[in-house]
Amino acid sequence: MVSLKTRLILNFSVVILVSTLCSVYFGVRSVGNTIVAQAQEKVRLDLNSAREIYQNELGQIRQTIRLTALRFFLKDMSVTDQRAKLLTELQQIREREGLDVLNLTDPAGRIVIRSRHPDVTGDVLDRQALRQVLDDWQSDTAVAATQVVTGTELRQEHPDLVRQAEATHRDAADSLPSPAPDDDSPAGMVMSAAAPVLDYQGRLIGVLYGEKLLNRDPAIVDRIRDIVFQDQRFEGKEMGTATIFLDDRRIATNVRRADGQRAIGTRVSREVYDQVIGRGIPWIQRALVVEDWYITAYEPLRDLDDRIIGMLYVGILEAPYIQLRDRVVLQFLVVALLSVTLLIIVGYVTAVGTIKPINTLMEATRQVARGDLTHRVDISAPQEIARLAASFNRMTADLEKVTARYQELTRSLEQRVAERTRELTDTQAQLHQASKLSSLGRMAAGVAHEINNPLTSIMINAGLAAEEAPDDPVLQENLRVISEETARCRDIVSDLLQFARESRPLPRSGEINLVLERVVAVLRHQIALQKVALHLDLAAALPPLFMDENRIGQVVTNLILNALDAMPDGGELWLASKRAGDGQEVAIVVRDTGSGIAPEHLPRVFDPFFTTKGTRGTGLGLSVSYGIVEQHDGRIELDSHPDRGTTVVLTLPAAAADPGPTDVTRSDAAAPDAGLEQ
Ligand SMILES: Nc1ncnc2c1ncn2[C@@H]1O[C@H](COP(=O)(O)OP(=O)(O)OP(=O)(O)O)[C@@H](O)[C@H]1O
Ligand SMILES: [Mg+2]
Repeated sequence: MVSLKTRLILNFSVVILVSTLCSVYFGVRSVGNTIVAQAQEKVRLDLNSAREIYQNELGQIRQTIRLTALRFFLKDMSVTDQRAKLLTELQQIREREGLDVLNLTDPAGRIVIRSRHPDVTGDVLDRQALRQVLDDWQSDTAVAATQVVTGTELRQEHPDLVRQAEATHRDAADSLPSPAPDDDSPAGMVMSAAAPVLDYQGRLIGVLYGEKLLNRDPAIVDRIRDIVFQDQRFEGKEMGTATIFLDDRRIATNVRRADGQRAIGTRVSREVYDQVIGRGIPWIQRALVVEDWYITAYEPLRDLDDRIIGMLYVGILEAPYIQLRDRVVLQFLVVALLSVTLLIIVGYVTAVGTIKPINTLMEATRQVARGDLTHRVDISAPQEIARLAASFNRMTADLEKVTARYQELTRSLEQRVAERTRELTDTQAQLHQASKLSSLGRMAAGVAHEINNPLTSIMINAGLAAEEAPDDPVLQENLRVISEETARCRDIVSDLLQFARESRPLPRSGEINLVLERVVAVLRHQIALQKVALHLDLAAALPPLFMDENRIGQVVTNLILNALDAMPDGGELWLASKRAGDGQEVAIVVRDTGSGIAPEHLPRVFDPFFTTKGTRGTGLGLSVSYGIVEQHDGRIELDSHPDRGTTVVLTLPAAAADPGPTDVTRSDAAAPDAGLEQ
């Protein structure tokens, strides 16, 4: 799984990269397009300028011809017929005006004077401008035109001209074989002008015709370049170029070939040719011109018959614009890269800043899961996460409280369970004891009843027998033993009955200390006899007890007798009374320093007939006492350690403030110490 931090940063970066790439792409495109569009617009305007210059050139030739045609020496020509003088004059004018041809015809168009080639005259010159002037001489205007001329026609004017034109064809590296110079195919392109020559009466006496061969004449294209591009250069190359085409062939140009020569004779590309020459639509876009890419503009050149005979071209090197565009793009990219870097850094810092508190929180949850509920988070984080941290802290605090309460509850529950278990065990033990006692009691009562009568008759008969033989001392002695042993049996039976009868006690409110003192008074003699030191510790102002004083006295007597039995060689005996159980109870403590009880005997001492004293004991003392104490809703507890002595604690409830009538008054009949039933 990718971590949240990585994912945040990745997403952030992707968004930044995509948006930056998009903006760079569209930015670059629009910058590129704008630059190219501006360059094209400039070239279009440059083409307008070039056309103006071209037209201006044509206009100048027209002007020259017109002004010359108006001069008197021509008007006078028919009058004076000074041919030689005319020729000289025209030759001077031709040279001065830089014309290649300057001819004078008669009104029918036949050459009268051919200033460049005086030997050849009398032919009819076929030129559009001339024809138009002959057709419409009355309007007395000059006509100028660009026109295509054949090699033959050029030769007619002067052999130099056909060579000049021919050269433009021969130079062409990629051209087809040049047509023969005398061929009738187009060989040269001329700017021509014609104007009527009228006499003083306004009659047509001739036409003045002049022309300038454009082939290999750099004047116009260089002027265009100088005016439009002002000799700007880029890496040694001329920024702007201009060309005049005859059909698809460069006849005058300042576009250079690799060797630095003017690229005269080379041809335009097929696409440009088809569009401009073929369909007469100007071309304004990038094009490969000879060697370099230019942003170019071509437009058709037409003759007087409106036929497309060639093209006028201007172009500016594309390279500086590309360089400009590249520079702008580069700057754009640098800025984009910088902002991407910055954004990614900002994104990273933000992501880390956001994730850190989350990690802290995560660590905190781990701590809490490990059980450290006191752990709290302390973070300075954005609002939402700070709130999360706060509620986490609140949750942990609540959890801590709840856990504490839960543990408290568990503890008290355990305590209560332990208490209940102990109580249950006690109750079980008591029940066990009680059931043992009750079944035994019933048996004992039966046995006692059955034995009572035989014992009575033994005693009576022993008495009668003694009366019948008063003089037999042996018999008398035997009968005495019989009587004594029978009396002993009767005592046991009496005890048994006492135990078994379940006779209700005769309770009444009384002072326990009085009972204890009475018991001590009866036993004091025996205690002293056994060299036992008695410590009496009776608490004053004990609450009265609701009890059968005789029976409680009997219990205490039993306990003291047991203590004495355990100290045959003397010892110490404590008898104490005190408040217990919040003052609602009174405890009587009997403690001796006697032999103590062996641990294996301890569970059995309350069992009836359990004795370690052989025939000296009946084993009923404690079990009878147990029964009595239970009838009084009290408890009897025994703690003994062999050789260290025994402590018995008897706990009895204090009498209620008003005990009220009791339902246990019935059993007056059976005095606990009742003798044998008669
Ligand atoms: N204070 C004591 N010190 C040592 N052993 C005792 C003490 N109290 C009771 N015992 C033991 O408990 C046994 C049972 O006592 P219990 O009073 O029921 O019968 P007993 O004393 O043997 O006989 P009886 O009470 O009829 O004379 C005793 O035999 C004795 O072994
Ligand atoms: Mg006893």
